[in-house]
Amino acid sequence: MKIEIPRDCERLGAVQIYGLQKVYELDSGGFSGQHESAQTDVIRSIPSEALYERQKDMAIVVPVKNERLKLIEGVLVGIPHPCQIIVVSNSPRGPVDRFHIEKEAITNFCKFTNKRVLVVHQKDAAIAKAIELAGYSELLGDDGLVRSGKAEGMIMGTLLARWLNNKYIGFVDSDNYFPGAVHEYVQEYAAGFEMFDTDSTFVRISWNSKPKVMENALFFAKWGRSSVHSNRTLNLLLSHFSGYETEVVKTGNAGEHALTVDLALNIEYAAGYAVETHHYVNLIESWGGILPPKEGVKSREKVTICQIESRNPHLHESKGEEHVEDMIDASLSVIYNSPLCPELLKREIAEERSNRLKLDKPEGVPPVKVYSNLSNLNLDTFLEHCEAAFDSETEALSLV
Ligand code: GDD
Ligand code: MG
Repeated sequence: MKIEIPRDCERLGAVQIYGLQKVYELDSGGFSGQHESAQTDVIRSIPSEALYERQKDMAIVVPVKNERLKLIEGVLVGIPHPCQIIVVSNSPRGPVDRFHIEKEAITNFCKFTNKRVLVVHQKDAAIAKAIELAGYSELLGDDGLVRSGKAEGMIMGTLLARWLNNKYIGFVDSDNYFPGAVHEYVQEYAAGFEMFDTDSTFVRISWNSKPKVMENALFFAKWGRSSVHSNRTLNLLLSHFSGYETEVVKTGNAGEHALTVDLALNIEYAAGYAVETHHYVNLIESWGGILPPKEGVKSREKVTICQIESRNPHLHESKGEEHVEDMIDASLSVIYNSPLCPELLKREIAEERSNRLKLDKPEGVPPVKVYSNLSNLNLDTFLEHCEAAFDSETEALSLV
């Protein structure tokens, strides 16, 4: 892959946020190819073998809730072979057992690809038990099972990636129409880890475009509606601390992202769709050097956020207007309710929200649930019980 080095970098304590990097060639050849001569001071040419080496240590978590089988299959097709796939499904088990149908389709995929895919249901009782015994009951609902939500499925996927001894973990949504886009995201995750080889690297993808039909023609929109809000507000937060206006953040809501498992196990996750924005906020809270260090958060020399602009258009299922408003509110909530957020920015968020939702007057943004740092979960206990759950071959947890 041929990719430019980042032009900008904003620093806050140990956190480095690099500017968006463009990809110039999706495949720039292998070790024996021409990649070395193609390398310049501003362009890195990463041989395909180097990407595959990274992917051998990478789990890709695919969260699923009620998606069409054809879409899920297309996503699996796009994931490069060396990666360990982990599907975390929260699809209903009745009256029609969607999860059973998904497992059948994935088993078929595995037969043809000779791959082993870990498929787990979010409401799996054995995993919930392992989480409870590991002292992280906050993730469980009144029924003792993992709560519903994308972030909750991501936490489960993160723990399973660690159980399978992966070094990196990436996420790709299961409602993507283009297998080629999925393939590109995972290549870019690997390129990010190759360029920033630290144990605290976070790679986030910004889509180049999102096609829409407008007045019978295709229009390639650049920014999703919720990312406009979260990027702008995160940039205002950074500007407040640096004293310089910035536009460095382009991936506030990036559902497509990857990070080292080490970092993933030492951060907080906000519930539902606030998760991606909260990761930015939480990294700055923990390692930005602004707030006093939180108990249990180990210091890190450097935490690197790398943002890559993908080339494929991103086309996914359309899930309605209300869903977008909820996502904007959830993203802004984690910034508004962070101890980092200055009064001036709080006022601005509340005013903008009042205009957007047509409220009588500005009011505070209700907090969303934020799970405590995943380091509060006793990993050894979890791993031990997860192993036992797998041995007893519960129906829901299987490597097909
Ligand atoms: N396991 C699990 N559990 N998966 C879920 C759940 C759940 O409770 N709810 C949704 N999912 C899956 C969906 O099946 C889909 O694959 C993925 O999570 C994303 O959900 P969507 O409902 O398609 O979200 P979106 O497309 O509106 O938003 C996506 O892009 C945003 C950036 O624009 C998400 O990735 C957001 O998190 C992201 O901020
Ligand atoms: Mg979607």
